[in-house]
Amino acid sequence: MSALRFDGVSVRYGKLTAVDGVSLTVPSGQVVGLVGESGSGKSTLARAAAGLAPVSAGRVLLDGVDVRRLPRRRPLQMVFQDPYSSLDPRMAIGESIAEAMPRRAGRRAEVARLLELVNLDPDRADLLPGQLSGGQRQRVALARALAGQPKVLVADEITSALDVSVQGAVLNLVRDVQRRLALSMLFISHNLAVVRYVSDVVAVMYLGRIVEAGPAEQVLTDPKHPYTRDLLAAAPSAHGTLLDETGLDALADTEPADPHHPPSGCRYHPRCPIGPLVHPDRTVCVTADPAGEAADRPHSAACHFAASHPTRRSA
Ligand SMILES: Nc1ncnc2c1ncn2[C@@H]1O[C@H](COP(=O)(O)OP(=O)(O)OP(=O)(O)O)[C@@H](O)[C@H]1O
Ligand SMILES: [Mg+2]
Repeated sequence: MSALRFDGVSVRYGKLTAVDGVSLTVPSGQVVGLVGESGSGKSTLARAAAGLAPVSAGRVLLDGVDVRRLPRRRPLQMVFQDPYSSLDPRMAIGESIAEAMPRRAGRRAEVARLLELVNLDPDRADLLPGQLSGGQRQRVALARALAGQPKVLVADEITSALDVSVQGAVLNLVRDVQRRLALSMLFISHNLAVVRYVSDVVAVMYLGRIVEAGPAEQVLTDPKHPYTRDLLAAAPSAHGTLLDETGLDALADTEPADPHHPPSGCRYHPRCPIGPLVHPDRTVCVTADPAGEAADRPHSAACHFAASHPTRRSA
């Protein structure tokens, strides 16, 4: 078991700060769900964890060791939205899985074991990715990631490209495997219902920053940040079906956030229902960055007025 820690991590692409001073911990053996709208920096944060994004400030630590110092075979593996990004379409799936194994000996048996672990028939190891369904391909991508014997798994929108009818099965599988292997997992999705389903901790990202984080139950039933509340209000219901397309689409008709020109003060203030749009006296939202308020408390939110609008959601 291993803990993954982002410590004041920033990632810049030219003038764009895609991730801005993010501190977040994925505790050992737990699932942290990261949710936020398109362009908020979720994938960039994931890539920083894998040493694939240019970290311009802060550090990513795996059990206290900077990931940039880890060996090439990192104890951290990623699974992406598109399984083709990790599977060679011309390579038999068994070979793809074997290739990711640290040792040569006993690969055949290990491939069979991994295929069984992701509920695929080991007899199908000779098939090509194109001969499988999307859900099966994603299972193979997971098996390949597990072949590297990771301690930490980063899953980035792994069900987003799948037919809704198989999303639930893949989520069940991921959750089951995570528990059985006691993996630490950063689970990214723009779909709040999906995040809710797998996460112990939920972190909400907006324009490069974590605006709220805490135990999943608390964040989802007693959200503190207006952005989180808006996300939840847009989602059908706490007991809505997993397959509902929830959350962010419903916010799309408001002014979209432009990461190239982040607003001053609180970045959510131009859209915020409890900010200066509605309360003109709340100039602090325009002038002062509330980022510091998202301290290392178990449930924290970066909002000047989080406490003055308690809305315990009736689930
Ligand atoms: N390699 C890159 N070069 C330049 N800009 C980038 C690069 N990767 C990401 N960005 C920019 O960084 C910002 C954050 O992108 P990112 O892909 O991390 O968002 P996201 O939250 O994963 O969005 P989505 O939900 O659409 O996957 C975006 O404005 C994006 O255009
Ligand atoms: Mg992304």
